[in-house]
Amino acid sequence: MKITNVDGPPGFKEFDDIEDRMTSEHVEDVREIFNTPLTGSYNWDYTVADNRIKRLYELGKELNWNGSIDLDWSNHIKRGDLPVKPEFDDLGNVYPEYNDMSEDEKREVSWHASAWGLSQFLHGEQGALLVASQLVSCAPTYQAKLYAASQCFDEARHVEVFNRYLQDVMGMSYSISPSLKALLDKGLTDPRWDLKFIAMQIIIEGLALAAFQSTKMTTSCPLLRDLTHYVIRDEARHVTFGINYLEDFNKTLSEDEIEDRARFAYEACVIMRDRIQNYELGKKFFGYSEQEAREAILKSGVNDDFRGLLFNRVMPNLKKIGLLTESVRPLYDELGLLEYEVAPSDFEIDWAEISKPLESSDEIETQAEEQAEVIKEMFHNH
Ligand SMILES: [Fe+2]
Ligand SMILES: [Fe+2]
Repeated sequence: MKITNVDGPPGFKEFDDIEDRMTSEHVEDVREIFNTPLTGSYNWDYTVADNRIKRLYELGKELNWNGSIDLDWSNHIKRGDLPVKPEFDDLGNVYPEYNDMSEDEKREVSWHASAWGLSQFLHGEQGALLVASQLVSCAPTYQAKLYAASQCFDEARHVEVFNRYLQDVMGMSYSISPSLKALLDKGLTDPRWDLKFIAMQIIIEGLALAAFQSTKMTTSCPLLRDLTHYVIRDEARHVTFGINYLEDFNKTLSEDEIEDRARFAYEACVIMRDRIQNYELGKKFFGYSEQEAREAILKSGVNDDFRGLLFNRVMPNLKKIGLLTESVRPLYDELGLLEYEVAPSDFEIDWAEISKPLESSDEIETQAEEQAEVIKEMFHNH
């Protein structure tokens, strides 16, 4: 199977088998170079402290799943199906034109909406893979290096399964949202290892967790539900690692250094809150400009729950690692995000929860329904 980018609008690809349309020009197109001033370190102290990082590393080894074996690749939706559960089909709230479409057309538009979202997951996972690989070199301690190495393998599996899902099930993919790209670039090209940590383990992992959780709850596809569930288990470990590691490290920084990082985190939050949106759908199907699509999405409120899910996680974590400083608090307040700081952070580890053996498809389905209820309660009762 080859990817062609010949007929569609820029960045959109339908997968087919016409290999000869893939010229060397297209191959060059798909590779993008970045340079990074990486300051790596050896660490000759191999002392193993019996701490949380070690336990997380052990768990990572234990809970390695194999996407080729543990997922049932025959149990999925097909083109022509609605990719979300009907009660979560909210595109009509954003684009009134959607409501006037035939059922077939709606399913096709929804299919593209899902493909766009899953494409962002795929690109984000690639970014995570690249950053995690840098952390192996940059992380100062022996144990953090080992942990980062295990995370690399997790991220590789995530790239693998999202890619396979897009190719085999969706049959199409979209290019990366410019804002998500900017966020990844920042993490990949900043020379300071702890900024990579903040960008990756707190911000992007937090975003990923919220996005995967909402996909797990809303998808009509059993395969995708299982797939996101397995990925979530890994990501939860990654976030926990980041907070536990940075909580200690940040105490060694000067006030100015902390301010720098607090600013950085704030700017990343602004991007996550407002910018990583699907403007392609409005352009492609309803003739909206990017600006019009942005306004339509904002006005519809369809992302409010997602935003709640996201910042309910990110804000307490930023607080825990000392990055909700007095100077950035008013800025968060203006964005309406400060209310989330009181939620529990991911620092406290529910070992029983993250050590559980892999669940069956049925268990995952029940869990997804229960979680959807909890979220409804959380964000609609105040
Ligand atoms: Fe991942
Ligand atoms: Fe991750």
